[in-house]
Amino acid sequence: MKKHLIAGSVILAIAVFFVFSSGKAAAPLSPIEDLGKKLFFDKALSSPAGQECAACHGPSVGFTGPAERFNKVGGVYEGAFKGRFGNRKPPAASYAGDSPKLHLDKEGNFVGGMFWDGRATGDVLGDPLAEQAMGPFMNPLEQNMPDKKSIILAVQKSTYARLFEEVWGKGSLDAVKNVDKTYELIARSIAAYERSAEVNPFSSKFDAFWRAATAKGLKVETIDADSAKNFKNLGLTEREINGLVLFNTKGMCAVCHVLTSVNGRPPVFTDYAYDNIGVPKNPDNPFYGQAKNFNPEGKAWVDKGLGGFLQTVDKYKSYAAANMGKHKVPTLRNVDERPTPVFVKAFMHNGALKSLKDVVRFYNTRDKGEAKWPAPEVKANLNTQESGNLGLTNDEENAIVDFMKTLTDKR
Ligand code: HEC
Ligand code: HEC
Repeated sequence: MKKHLIAGSVILAIAVFFVFSSGKAAAPLSPIEDLGKKLFFDKALSSPAGQECAACHGPSVGFTGPAERFNKVGGVYEGAFKGRFGNRKPPAASYAGDSPKLHLDKEGNFVGGMFWDGRATGDVLGDPLAEQAMGPFMNPLEQNMPDKKSIILAVQKSTYARLFEEVWGKGSLDAVKNVDKTYELIARSIAAYERSAEVNPFSSKFDAFWRAATAKGLKVETIDADSAKNFKNLGLTEREINGLVLFNTKGMCAVCHVLTSVNGRPPVFTDYAYDNIGVPKNPDNPFYGQAKNFNPEGKAWVDKGLGGFLQTVDKYKSYAAANMGKHKVPTLRNVDERPTPVFVKAFMHNGALKSLKDVVRFYNTRDKGEAKWPAPEVKANLNTQESGNLGLTNDEENAIVDFMKTLTDKR
């Protein structure tokens, strides 16, 4: 009995050691999540081979762009086919799974969907995240696979082909009879991984604070200068609490990067709505130099965001003008996650800003003449109510940055 216990605890200790030392979330992946993970990290699913989803959505940077050489300039990533570039910066592929289908809310604003411009609406599969996953494999500027069939054939040759049929049933990895269905299952598997506890661990310093505050009956989304004292000693330093207060009050960040909890979980810092916050063009965007067949407008190309997409859909056309220049509010989770403190990340849909300090300064001073920010890429629909001239001091800007640094998951 005793012997068994000792052996058992040694095995347990080893297991615990591996779970924690591997740097992954403690919760094991379910078979479908595991399948999705294998697809997400499979370099064979590109043409030429070598590019997996993680090439543009790396765990070491919060599932966004992991290559400093791209972040430092255009912020846009090269596709599998050398020299081909898309036009936007990869947003986080984590904490994205709660975005609803693209729809008009009661106030007439668009909410939901995937991509900066919402074009993976969710109308095809009923799930925007799974629908998004059908895009990159066959995008000539990304993984560049010729068709669904060749993707399925590559999965058939993979080490996880059997896992696929364990998850989806015998004969499900079919490349002849129902190629569309098989491709859909690939996408749904990836979405399952992207929604897993490994990708969304809610394990940051802020999460521990949020849980402690909630357990005490405090509502983090109501924090302000007066109530701040009640939030002391719950895991954030006074300075970080000060940053959170500014984030929620004077800085007005939480108007869009909302602090409200969804389904009892800590907030994901987006309301999935769209805004034009006046981000300037990024002159280093490699898309300007792409061949005419990919970018017919050359240097004159303008990223119209949501409005550009709505223009292409009959039922939404009439809303296009009011949404030109708007992009989806991104999550701020892991916005500061990087392999080393000096590693450069790129922010905004076109990677025009390179540090969180610049981001906050931009919101704070965009409309103050002396700050001299370049003009917005799209002048229409500029948000001036909650951004542009916030009156934050330099120290207050820094406190907001310090607060955003508490949003990094412990992996
Ligand atoms: C070459 C780089 C690249 C590759 C490879 C790539 N992505 Fe992306 N991903 C991007 C870019 C750029 C965007 C934003 C594009 C846009 O908004 O027009 C994006 C957007 C997304 C989003 C939307 C997030 C949101 O909040 O709207 C998800 C999810 C995502 N990618 C997952 C994946 C998956 C899954 C794969 C593999 C099947 C993949 N990506 C492959 C660059 C890439
Ligand atoms: C009116 C809504 C709104 C407000 C207010 C707002 N944001 Fe944003 N935020 C956005 C949108 C929309 C984007 C993407 C804009 C783009 O790329 O064109 C964004 C992008 C960002 C990004 C870049 C994230 C990434 O992955 O590239 C950061 C960081 C950020 N905001 C922080 C803040 C902070 C800090 C504040 C307060 C000082 C704030 N935001 C206020 C809507 C808002």
